[in-house]
Amino acid sequence: MAGQPQPLESYPVSTDSTSSRGSWNSKIGFIFAAAGSAVGLGNIWAFPAKVADNGGAVFLIVYLLCCLIIGFPVMVGELVLGRSTKKNPVGAFKALSNHWFPPLIGFWGVLCGVMILSFYLVVAGWTAGYVLEEAMHFAGQAELAAWFGDLSNGPKNALFSVLFMAATITIITGGVSNGIEKATKAMMPALLVILIVMIGYVLTLPGATDGVAVYLKPNPADLTGSVVFSALGQSFFSLSLGMGCLITYGSYMSRKQNLAESAFYVTMTDFSVAFLAGFLVIPAMFVAQGQGIPIYNDAGNLVAGGQLVFQVLPAMFHSMESGAGVIAGMAFFILLGLAALTSTISLLEVPVAYAVDEHGMSRKKAAIGIGSLIAVFAIIISFHVGLIDLLATSFNDVGLPLGGFMICVFLGYVWKTQNALLELEHGFEGLHTSWFKPVWVVFIRYICPLLIGSVFLATIYGLLTQ
Ligand code: TRP
Repeated sequence: MAGQPQPLESYPVSTDSTSSRGSWNSKIGFIFAAAGSAVGLGNIWAFPAKVADNGGAVFLIVYLLCCLIIGFPVMVGELVLGRSTKKNPVGAFKALSNHWFPPLIGFWGVLCGVMILSFYLVVAGWTAGYVLEEAMHFAGQAELAAWFGDLSNGPKNALFSVLFMAATITIITGGVSNGIEKATKAMMPALLVILIVMIGYVLTLPGATDGVAVYLKPNPADLTGSVVFSALGQSFFSLSLGMGCLITYGSYMSRKQNLAESAFYVTMTDFSVAFLAGFLVIPAMFVAQGQGIPIYNDAGNLVAGGQLVFQVLPAMFHSMESGAGVIAGMAFFILLGLAALTSTISLLEVPVAYAVDEHGMSRKKAAIGIGSLIAVFAIIISFHVGLIDLLATSFNDVGLPLGGFMICVFLGYVWKTQNALLELEHGFEGLHTSWFKPVWVVFIRYICPLLIGSVFLATIYGLLTQ
């Protein structure tokens, strides 16, 4: 980053008027929390599946470009909105404009957060179920193993999603620095260690290198419009953009922190974890194939989606020597569960911050009340898992880019980038002489809305003519 990057060590934050709604205790605390929000099921469950689905390395390259060209500038924009207003998404837009429309962008974000969390909890619950499935399989309890591993088992899904919500509520109730920051600081390093150890292990298994080749060798013929749509949607979801999650996290940041630099670290951490997860999941598919597990579907494509992580991988763990299989299997699903939990926290924090700021509710009441309501939605989805696809299409594929587009237009033309720059300046010494300033302005005003808008229209067109 240009300017003078500040060291990332902890420093005390002054107790200003924001202390009643909470703030991060350190610069690195924000990075952990925001990276925790970013790194989730999107990285380890969805990303490798999309790579498998969309032609391997080509998807990887397009995805990196989406993160850098669109995701990163929008993330800076969200952080600026949050820090300058010290408010939740609805409050932030209200504070910066007198018109009735902008707060609707905030409401849309809160709604997307609630709906995404409702189905995210069910998938998170699957990962917890699979930790026990692996253990039961090892213990020779085939019937119990099948119960825990059944993705459409309503009561089991409901049980685990409610447990996940209870854990999320507990952390959110602890507050910004004592809850979110502490929990993510403990979980993120654990997640990285498990991920790296598992990659090291899987790469030693026979067949793994075939997977690495598919993952890293680009075939230009694979570059199609749908790859671009899919990569853009995935980058928004994975970076937690478009619904004000980073407006909220930004509202707890200090003016001593360089927003551009922090956003860059978060973007790169998120990309790196997705990239690494590819080295685990794609080679593991080819290991599975060596063990006789089918990894191509009837149409001749690599299996993707839920099937990949929840069917191919458990089958591979089961066919390994049983001691190694159970350890690898449990470690993998614990990894997924940790990643999911640091993300559910950020999804619940948005409506909670809204209730606290705009309706004067206590953090605890808001967390329990809103969390319980979302848990009810999750229970309904638990019994109708077919809804997950529909919700993901509506709120991730359509909802987040729409939110991102409106955030860019608001920043560029309503609040105006010169005002945003006045906020960005705090903590970013040398902003005015840095290349970042003109580049960011051009991206927020022209390039991002244009790219998001055209991909968005093409996605809608694709959905309607499907
Ligand atoms: N980024 C998370 C993942 O990759 C999911 C997530 C957390 C999210 N908070 C969000 C997605 C806010 C969109 C908006 O799994």
